[in-house]
Amino acid sequence: MKRKLEALHKTLFNDKPTDIYFSPGRINLIGEHTDYAGGHVMPIALSIGLYASVSKRSDKTIAFYSDDFSEEGIHSLDLDTIEPPTEKNYLAYVQGMVYKLKREKCTCDHGLNITILSDLPKASGLSSSAALLVLIGYIITDQFAIELSSAKLARFARFVENNYLNLRSGIMDPFVIVHGKKDHALFLNTQTMEYQYIPFKMKDHTLVMMNTNKPRSLIDSDYNSRVETVEQATRFFEDLRPIKSLCDLEIPDFNQLKARLNDNTAIQRIEHVLFENDRTIQAKDVLNDQDYEMFGDFMVQSHESLRYLYEVSCAELDYLVTENLKHGALGARMTGAGFGGTMIALYKNTDLPDSFDAIIDGYYKAFKKDVEIYTATASDGVKKL
Ligand code: GLA
Repeated sequence: MKRKLEALHKTLFNDKPTDIYFSPGRINLIGEHTDYAGGHVMPIALSIGLYASVSKRSDKTIAFYSDDFSEEGIHSLDLDTIEPPTEKNYLAYVQGMVYKLKREKCTCDHGLNITILSDLPKASGLSSSAALLVLIGYIITDQFAIELSSAKLARFARFVENNYLNLRSGIMDPFVIVHGKKDHALFLNTQTMEYQYIPFKMKDHTLVMMNTNKPRSLIDSDYNSRVETVEQATRFFEDLRPIKSLCDLEIPDFNQLKARLNDNTAIQRIEHVLFENDRTIQAKDVLNDQDYEMFGDFMVQSHESLRYLYEVSCAELDYLVTENLKHGALGARMTGAGFGGTMIALYKNTDLPDSFDAIIDGYYKAFKKDVEIYTATASDGVKKL
């Protein structure tokens, strides 16, 4: 990858890169749709992600190219006149992050050439957009020696997506992309922002990822409407109990008060959030004890809840979950926002099928799409290579 990147950088900018950076994708093991409700999440950073090569320019232009958007060629942003983005596209992610850093922190006295190559499938629910935001933020802070804590870098990335892309995502994705640790999952309380690393180096088990290849953009999905429901519910229960966020609401209190909401859909959604948060707290201990059978059960419960209560799954994800369970997985679930994207399945190595051809063929027959299969390993967060 490094050599390919250097060669491409030379072709594009006629320049030799001085630095190479890596920003990973992520999967969430459990704790889905809880991070905008003050709940817990347990993601890992992946070994696949975005790579960038960087060289200095004497003018004040940030020129960048991404192979994932090769048809757009090289984009240029002038550091002196940069404005917040107005469109909701790939350029907006880069422009938004550069603008945010420039406004808050940066005295940027020169420009940069940036080339980006990826081995992360796009729109696959593996968080390529947060990986891009963090990558750009990390490059800018490193190149201009800006002091910015890692927690703030994650918050800036969320700010850009929330404010310029109109996607009201939580903190999970940028946080784990910044703080990911090899062979560990990250257990994060999204209300207090306290976190701990849980060993996740499996000797006898394998975590398989299957990309549905059902592309979806969260910007056009029902994601924001789920966030809205959580916010409305928080306001409702705030008047009845001393809570700061929805996940502060105790389950018995919720059961006692829910009828007052008078909205079955909202009740279902809140039920998902509260029970998923509870499951995630339990799943942390179970993972610490390396009880993968129990962890698998939690994955299945999580998927059912996302499918029937939160209604963010889809036929493709449900198919892959069912088939993997039939093939002997200890647990399987959608990961990330849903509506498409990627499914994860946990297998005991002795139960791993020799091949997944039956699932691949069945999936193609049902959906006329290929499924891509990877193995997930927990890796470090964003870094300079
Ligand atoms: C997306 C968002 C995250 C989180 C997940 C669902 O990945 O970016 O903040 O809400 O969906 O758990």
